[in-house]
Order: sequence, then structure tokens, then C-alpha cells
Amino acid sequence: MRVLSGIQPSGDFHIGNYFGMMKPMLEYQETADLFVFIVNYHALTSVDDGATLSANTLNAAMDWLALGLDPEKCTFYVQSDIPEVTELTWILSNVTPMGLLERCHSYKDKTAKGIKPNHGLFAYPVLMAADILLYQAEIIPVGRDQIQHVEVTRDIAIKFNNTYGDTFVLPDYQVEETVAVVPGLDGQKMSKSYDNTIEIFISKKQLKTKVMRIVTDSTPVEEPKNPDTCNLFAICKLFYSKDELRDLRERYLKPGLKYADVKKDLVERISNYFAPFRERREELAANPDVVRKILRRGAEKARDIAAPTLKMTRERTGLVY
Ligand code: ADP
Ligand code: TRP
Repeated sequence: MRVLSGIQPSGDFHIGNYFGMMKPMLEYQETADLFVFIVNYHALTSVDDGATLSANTLNAAMDWLALGLDPEKCTFYVQSDIPEVTELTWILSNVTPMGLLERCHSYKDKTAKGIKPNHGLFAYPVLMAADILLYQAEIIPVGRDQIQHVEVTRDIAIKFNNTYGDTFVLPDYQVEETVAVVPGLDGQKMSKSYDNTIEIFISKKQLKTKVMRIVTDSTPVEEPKNPDTCNLFAICKLFYSKDELRDLRERYLKPGLKYADVKKDLVERISNYFAPFRERREELAANPDVVRKILRRGAEKARDIAAPTLKMTRERTGLVY
């Protein structure tokens, strides 16, 4: 089973990215034919500083490797190292109805927020379809916000297959239900666009500052509290075992719980959770060429799969004469 997903290098990864996307992908290494890649072409829609994009790309790769991605067990690469993907994007553009793209929430949300629409932002889902179809991927683990893009990919594949004959595998999305949306410091979805993130690799001091910013209600210490509406409790869920969580729930329901105590404990738990990965992260940061080499090798592996798909697509569409 081929499982594939990409992530944008548009800033430091946060625990929403980790639990929502990275951790499930890391687990797939053991059971699937896994493709993981850094989508720097997509990031061009939001990052317009070359030095930043380049540094973010390498940092993203270091994060993945430090968190346990094993390039021997999967295919790990940077999107722009695969020239086949832009060629396939153009071909797919011609079986993509305008209405399909006009309906995409992500595009509508971004333009509603005042982001100036350009062609890259509008055509974003077609590039994503090429990312997926090029490798004939079957399962696409994503967060809720990306479901529609996988559906668009299916529609594009169906249209292509109907026009030119069966060529592409139809992919399915997969959403990790238990951690579908990790809340941020303010209770909205954790996202770098909302300045409400807890980054994976921050110093303990920065971590403390972030956790102290988690918004809680103003129920007095001596009154019982509602764990089910508490944002702090929702974040704790990620770092507590089932039994520990049951105990914490009981503490919430009795008088006397201080949110500050829960926060102090949470700082320790987050710090301990990521501690084993920190050393490896520092080692990689000191050896960027090792990381570049891993990515080059990953791109070779990816191109071995991409090239035959593109060849078939070129033949079917009549680009070969
Ligand atoms: P951001 O919202 O910070 O810009 P991205 O959109 O780059 O994050 O998301 C990268 C991946 O991480 C996607 O698969 C996305 O669904 C997942 N993800 C991002 N934020 C969260 C969250 N708060 N909870 C669960 N998954 C998330
Ligand atoms: N659009 C996705 C996001 O922002 C990233 C992405 C690009 C992707 N290409 C992909 C995800 C292919 C899965 C498969 O999160």
C-alpha cells in the first residue's frame, strides 16, 4: 500500500503538525510504502523570500529526520527536486474544470482574509494532484483542511482516466480522527497563521512562556471546572496516558484545581516528550550536507517512480510523436 503526504516548509513545525500529520506518517514507515516530501513549490504561495524558503526547507528536513523518519524505510524528498511534477501539473490543468478550483475552501478562505489571489494560489490543488498521482499513491493522510484537495485530486484523476484511458490510481484521504484538530493557545486550531502555536523544537524557556499563554476560563480555584470545554485540558490529552487523564479529569471536577499547576506539569511533559529527538536535531543542524545528501538520494528514488508515470501520461495525451 502506497501512502503519501507532503508538508509545507513555511515555518517551524508545531505540535499540531506533529500529532495531526507527522506522527501518523512516522508510524506508517513500519507498515507501508511511504512517501514523505517537503512541498516547497506550494510554499511559494506564502513565502516570498528566497533565503527564508531555502533555510526553512532544510530545517523541515532536519525536523523530520530528528523525529524519526528513516530514509531507508521510506522515500523522503523535496518537491522541487522532481521536475516531473510541474510537467504533470500542466497536463492535469487541462482536465481540471475552473469550477472545481473555484469551489475550494482553502482558496476562498485565503482570499477572504485579504491575501491577494495569484495563479499559484488558485492552481494549488492541481499541483497537489500531480504530487499524488505521479506516484500512484493510494492513501493520503491529511488534516481536515486538506480533505477537499484530495477529493479534487480524485476528480481530476477520474476526468483524466475517462478522457485518455485508465492511467491514475484514485487516492483516498485518511484523517486521524483522534487528533484531527489540535487546538492552539487560544482554543482555535493550532496554526502558524494564528500565532497560537507551540513549536516542537523550542527552548524550555520559550516553551514555558507559550504554555503560560494557553487561554483558560476564569472559574475560581475553589469551584469545579469543566474539562470538556477547557482548551488546556484538550492540549493535555496529547501528553497524558489514559489513566493519568482520568485522574486529571477528576481533579477538574473537584474544587481546588489551579490551572497554573496543570500548566507547569504540561511544560515538563512536552519537554520530556520531545527530549529524545532534540539531540539528533542538533547533530543534523551541525551537518547540513548530510541532510542534503539524504534528500538527493530520496529524490532519485522518487524519480524512479515518477518517470514511468509521466512517460505513460505523455504517451496517452499525444505529447510523444
Ligand atoms: P499551519 O496551519 O500551521 O499552516 P499546515 O497547514 O502547514 O499548518 O499543516 C501541515 C500539516 O499539519 C497538514 O497535514 C495539516 O492538516 C496538519 N495540521 C496543521 N495544524 C494542525 C492542527 N492544529 N491539528 C491537526 N493537524 C494539523
Ligand atoms: N497542501 C498540503 C498542506 O498544505 C500539502 C501538500 C502538498 C500535500 N502536496 C500534497 C499533502 C500531497 C498531501 C499530498 O498541508
